[in-house]
Amino acid sequence: MAATRARPVPTASVPVWDLFVRLFHWGLVGCVLTNYFWLDDGEDLHQWLGYAASALVVARTVWGFVGTRHARFSQFFPTPSRLRRHVAALLAGRHEFHEGHNPLGALMMLALMATVLALGLTGWMQTLDAFFGDAWLQDAHEWLGSALIALAFVHALAAIAMGRWERTYLVRAMVTGRKERW
Ligand code: HEM
Ligand code: HEM
Repeated sequence: MAATRARPVPTASVPVWDLFVRLFHWGLVGCVLTNYFWLDDGEDLHQWLGYAASALVVARTVWGFVGTRHARFSQFFPTPSRLRRHVAALLAGRHEFHEGHNPLGALMMLALMATVLALGLTGWMQTLDAFFGDAWLQDAHEWLGSALIALAFVHALAAIAMGRWERTYLVRAMVTGRKERW
């Protein structure tokens, strides 16, 4: 008779991401992917989605100062000493449980948000008479779009890999708001 393996039960479930953070995240993903893969013509809807993505990033930045505990920059800002400690732990093979963002994840978060704002800016500049038809601006916008998708790909893979390593489902936590500890 085949042995039945006991289903693992989490030892703790911690509320981490508030509703705003989760709506921000999946709203941003929707705007960025739609603009990059389906509406890359620069027409009205592309522009509105691009501005919506930029507005989400601005709102998230404000929330980083006034929001709930794990949403605050002070909780996870990737200072050199936090980064050093985290990388040393990774190199030593120690998996740590981070309730909020780990420092490398936080660095990626800032890079993703900055790239979205740069896309919003270069997109808006293309609508101005002063830059009408400027090839360098179109190239910069296109390059930033590709850089954002490449960063997001690494980010998503890292979230899946680190979730396995830290033994918590990071992606599910971005949906439910709760991180489980096993
Ligand atoms: C265009 C694509 C994406 C962008 C621009 C993006 C951006 C971000 C940002 C800005 C954060 C920080 C959230 C906050 O604190 O407010 C974040 C976190 C997170 N993202 Fe994404 N994301 C993208 C795609 C994805 C995908 C496809 C997944 C799933 C595989 C994913 C999984 C996560 C997870 C799990 C976190 C939390 C990480 C942690 O626990 O520290 N993201 N993302
Ligand atoms: C999430 C933010 C955005 C992303 C990911 C994005 C991405 C892209 C991509 C991939 C292209 C096609 C480039 C090419 O193949 O030539 C493009 C074109 C364009 N985008 Fe955006 N964009 C964003 C935001 C914006 C915003 C906010 C505006 C303006 C308000 C804008 C205006 C344009 C225009 C006018 C073009 C056409 C440029 C051309 O003629 O080559 N974009 N965008």
